[in-house]
Amino acid sequence: MRVLVTGGTGLVGRHAVARLQARGHAVRVLSRRACPDVPLLRGLPVEFVQGDVRDPTTLDAACSGCDAVVLSHQFPRFPVENQRRNETFDAVDRQGTTHCVQAAQANGVWRLVYVSGSALSAPNPDHPGIRAKRAAEQAVLSSGISAVSLRVNVVYAADDPRFARYARLARWLPFVVVLGDGRNRCAPIAVEDVAEAIASAVERPEVTGVLSVCGPQEVSWRQFLQRVGEAAAGAPRCAVHIPRWALWLAGALGERLPRPLFSRDAVVFITDFEQACPPLGVEAALGVQVTPLEVGLRRAFGRGQGAFPA
Ligand SMILES: NC(=O)c1ccc[n+]([C@@H]2O[C@H](COP(=O)([O-])OP(=O)(O)OC[C@H]3O[C@@H](n4cnc5c(N)ncnc54)[C@H](OP(=O)(O)O)[C@@H]3O)[C@@H](O)[C@H]2O)c1
Repeated sequence: MRVLVTGGTGLVGRHAVARLQARGHAVRVLSRRACPDVPLLRGLPVEFVQGDVRDPTTLDAACSGCDAVVLSHQFPRFPVENQRRNETFDAVDRQGTTHCVQAAQANGVWRLVYVSGSALSAPNPDHPGIRAKRAAEQAVLSSGISAVSLRVNVVYAADDPRFARYARLARWLPFVVVLGDGRNRCAPIAVEDVAEAIASAVERPEVTGVLSVCGPQEVSWRQFLQRVGEAAAGAPRCAVHIPRWALWLAGALGERLPRPLFSRDAVVFITDFEQACPPLGVEAALGVQVTPLEVGLRRAFGRGQGAFPA
């Protein structure tokens, strides 16, 4: 199959591209840049096409000749929106996804795989991210094209710069930093498993609707971050919390900057969102064997593993 991947230079997207390519598909990547350099994709026969999901005129050429489209775009500095640059949930997630669906319809694409989030499956506070992703999911699922929305949980990976920094710090400090009380739940999943789920979803047009893509173990954010620290350091790490009021203050100040560094909406996203995982997920529907949390964390952040020399 010929598959277009939006966000194919990003964390989830690039691993999906590598997986699809390894399974024999011809892959095209949409990027805002003319010649993106993506270390994971170097040397692979991947076609890059320049475009922007906010600009529908760039999407016809991207979709032309494709059998399937994987939608995995996300605005830069997520989840901190930048209204001035039109880098918002509404512009990129909702409108951008709708533009992609329209281009897919116009170009005879017959399979859509939307990369969504687990936060949609739990009772969570009203938030622009939830509203936009719900609307995007609706546009995809009502497109008339065979479509599946993968509600993905927290993704960890050695080549995620934020996690890599966190793991590196945990080697030197006797503690890990947790934003807020860290009691909200999640079921973290290895990026390789998410990529496998996406590739499998592309190949199985009979699988439609909403599917949970979660790790095998539910933990609190505090427990998860401590385990990342322990995997990196090879020793237990205690948690030091930054109180929510301090984050809220930082958000209120940060969102006033010309290029916002933080926002109150981001605080809600990070500290309040529940991402507990409903049953019936990728293992049953797509035949993906998800990696046990401890094994995945050791593989990504352990000494001598992934991006971390011994
Ligand atoms: N990472 C996680 O933990 C996680 C968890 C659950 C769900 N998800 C979902 O997975 C999807 C991908 O997330 P990610 O973490 O892989 O994101 P990411 O690493 O931040 O990558 C974002 C991608 O979107 C592209 N992009 C940004 N603005 C664009 C625009 N206007 N038009 C076209 N492309 C644009 C970027 O490409 P260029 O810069 O090359 O243009 C980049 O490839 C998102 O829907 C996210 O909600 C992620």
